[in-house]
This record gives sequence, structure tokens and C-alpha cells, in this order.
Amino acid sequence: MAKTLRVGMIGYGFMGKAHSNAWRQAPYFFPLRAKVELHTICGRNSAGVQAARAQMGWQFATTHWQEVIESPLIEIVDIVTPNDSHAEIAVAAARAGKHVLCEKPLALNVKQAESMLAAVQKAKVMHMVCHNYRRVPAIAQARKMIAEGALGQIHHFHARYAQDWLVDPEAPLRWKVQKEIAGSGTLGDIAVHVIDLGRYLVGEFKEVCGLMETFVKERPTPQEVTSGNPSAKTPAKRVKVNVDDAALMFGRFENGALVNIEATRYAAGRRNQMSFEINGSKGSLCFDLEDMNRLKFYETANLPDRQGFRDILVLQPGLHPYVGQWWRPGHALGYEHTFVHTIADFVNACVDRKPVQPTFEDGVKNQRVLQAVEESVKTGRWQKVS
Ligand SMILES: NC(=O)c1ccc[n+]([C@@H]2O[C@H](COP(=O)([O-])OP(=O)(O)OC[C@H]3O[C@@H](n4cnc5c(N)ncnc54)[C@H](O)[C@@H]3O)[C@@H](O)[C@H]2O)c1
Repeated sequence: MAKTLRVGMIGYGFMGKAHSNAWRQAPYFFPLRAKVELHTICGRNSAGVQAARAQMGWQFATTHWQEVIESPLIEIVDIVTPNDSHAEIAVAAARAGKHVLCEKPLALNVKQAESMLAAVQKAKVMHMVCHNYRRVPAIAQARKMIAEGALGQIHHFHARYAQDWLVDPEAPLRWKVQKEIAGSGTLGDIAVHVIDLGRYLVGEFKEVCGLMETFVKERPTPQEVTSGNPSAKTPAKRVKVNVDDAALMFGRFENGALVNIEATRYAAGRRNQMSFEINGSKGSLCFDLEDMNRLKFYETANLPDRQGFRDILVLQPGLHPYVGQWWRPGHALGYEHTFVHTIADFVNACVDRKPVQPTFEDGVKNQRVLQAVEESVKTGRWQKVS
């Protein structure tokens, strides 16, 4: 009889929905070595969390995350709250002996992230940070090809994460635009995903040089916008924006490859585009999340008269990572599948008690790159990643 792992999830917003779906789908599509029970969902608003419980299919709801931690029935804690609460919840969960899955960025800063890593290591529980893009089949396939030497020696990792939800200067302030809650702006929110992919695909960062910009210095608070009545007498309250709207960095990996990364919320027309190109001595690979089931591959070994990028449709069961658990050849996968893959691997790791990437150690290393970029921006100098 398979073991049952009961899950408590803290938060029920955007990621709460993505994770709830994944907890439900993973056992349906993947051969998990435990049954999964969606036990308790937690949020701050009683009516909101009850509605989420009913819609997302959880058995119980609470407005106090400590109840999830204290429950002897729950073995996995899934943290999908804003960044400022990750550390406190994860450390408490680890101390209570729970396995911890935590959304990215792992924490607000390196110190917090290190305390989280120390807590999970001390408690000997499984830990994973949710960099779900590692489990896009095309990206997992890129990793496999690079490991097999298809690109030879890597010279360049060039990546971009571009969104456009702040182009409008009247777009209201949200927690992602508040340093106290988010830690940073584009840097910790979206650049961190491609930094993580750089580490996954190419190697560890050695040194960086950064540039960050805040284009719109003040924004209206959400209340003023929602109650916004053109004839209202009181002017909308505007609050100073204290995070980066765009972050650029270039640098070096330990293995000598060069990196340049751009992250922005001001790329009009780019709702959520994440792309990269990797160039090596034997060829190149390109990926674009807007066409996420394809990889573009160029090989220098091809005859000169037929050289060019070719498309690999990464949807072949039996050949491409994760794809075999889904549909027949060529049937497209999407964003939500990346979370199912992440959670399926995490559940099996909890059963086997074997580390599963990306661990909190990866979270700490990513956080060190973020810190080095911020330090470089502050000093105007190159910064070692330590
Ligand atoms: N992996 C990804 O691609 C991805 C995408 C978006 C967001 N994220 C990350 O996921 C996390 C959540 O982001 P989101 O977009 O879902 O946010 P959100 O604002 O949509 O949802 C946050 C949820 O947390 C709850 N919450 C906040 N503080 C709480 C507390 N103290 N106790 C209990 N519940 C609390 C809120 O009620 C809400 O349900 C962030 O760390 C973010 O960086 C990751």
C-alpha cells in the first residue's frame, strides 16, 4: 500500500492556483511513489481562503499558517506566499520536520536564504525551490544535449525575461513593486529565473556587472485606482517605487563562458517572454517561452551548404523529458505542465529521501548572484559572486 503524503499549502493566489493544479495532476499522470492528499490551504482572508479551498479542492482551510506547521498530519509544506514570508514559514516548517517546497526567489536576501538552507539541512527534510522552468521539456532537453557535449565548449549565455505590465505609468502599486515585501523588482522576480537557468545549463557565476533602472518613480496605490472616480475631489495617493523596473547584467561563469541577461517589465508587447541563446564551439541552442515546445539547434558539423538553425519539436514520448507521461507525439504542453513536473519529482524525492534539484542550496546560490548584481549597481564596479 503506497504511503500518503498530506500537503499544506500557504497562499492561494496566482501560484496557489498553479500549485493546486499540479498537486492534483501529478498523481494522475506520473507514477508517484506516494499518494498525495491536498489537506490544508492557508490564506489571510477567511472568505477568500474558504472559496479557494472549495474551488481548488483542498479538504481544510485556515487563516493561520502556524496551524499548518503544527499539524502532525501534514508532511509537506508548500510556500506560495509573497517573498517576505518565505523564510519564517520555511524555517518553522523544517523545524517541525516537514518537507518544504518554496516559491522563488527563495528569500529577500542571502542571509535569510542561508538560514532556510541551514534549517532544512539540520532537520534532514527534503527541500526544493520552485524554478519550474527547469522542467519545461525543451529546457530539460537542452540540458541533456549540453551535458552530452552537443554544443562543445560554451562561450555565451544570452537571456532575456521581458514583461510589460508596468509600461503604463498609472498601473497601480502591487507587492511585487515594494522592496519590503518583494526584496527587489525585476531582479528577484524574473531575472532570477534566467540566472537559475544559466546555472542549470552552463555553470556557476564567477563575477558580474549590473545596471538597474526605475523608470516610473511613483505609482498610485491600488485602492485609489479601484475607487478611482474622475470627479472625486481627493487626488490619488502616490507612493514612491523603491524597486528596479529593469535589470541588466553581464559577467562570467567559472568555466569562462560569458553571460548577459536582461529583465524588464517595460517591454511593450511582451507579456511574459523568456528566451535564451547559448553558443558553443560546436553549435548553438535557442529557446523562447512564447514557443515553448521547440528548441532551435545549429550544428557546425553540418555540411556548409545546408547549415542553419533547425527546429526540434520537443514532444516525442520516449525521447524527450517528461513528455511520455502526457499525450501522443506532437500534442502540445503548456505553462501548467512545468509545475506538474516539478511537484511529481518533489513527491518522489520525499518518498526516496533523495535531494531533488533545484534545492535550497540552488536558491542560496541564485540569491548570491542577485546580491552581487545589486552590489555592483551600488558601487559601479564589477562584483565577485561569493
Ligand atoms: N515560479 C513562477 O514562475 C512564479 C510565478 C509567479 C510568482 N511566483 C512566486 O510565487 C510567490 C507568490 O506569488 P503570487 O503571484 O502567487 O502572489 P499572489 O499575490 O497572487 O498570492 C499570494 C498569496 O499569499 C497569501 N499570503 C500572503 N501573506 C500571507 C501570510 N502571512 N499567511 C498566509 N497567506 C499569505 C495571500 O493571501 C495570497 O493568497 C512569490 O514568491 C512569487 O515570487 C513564482
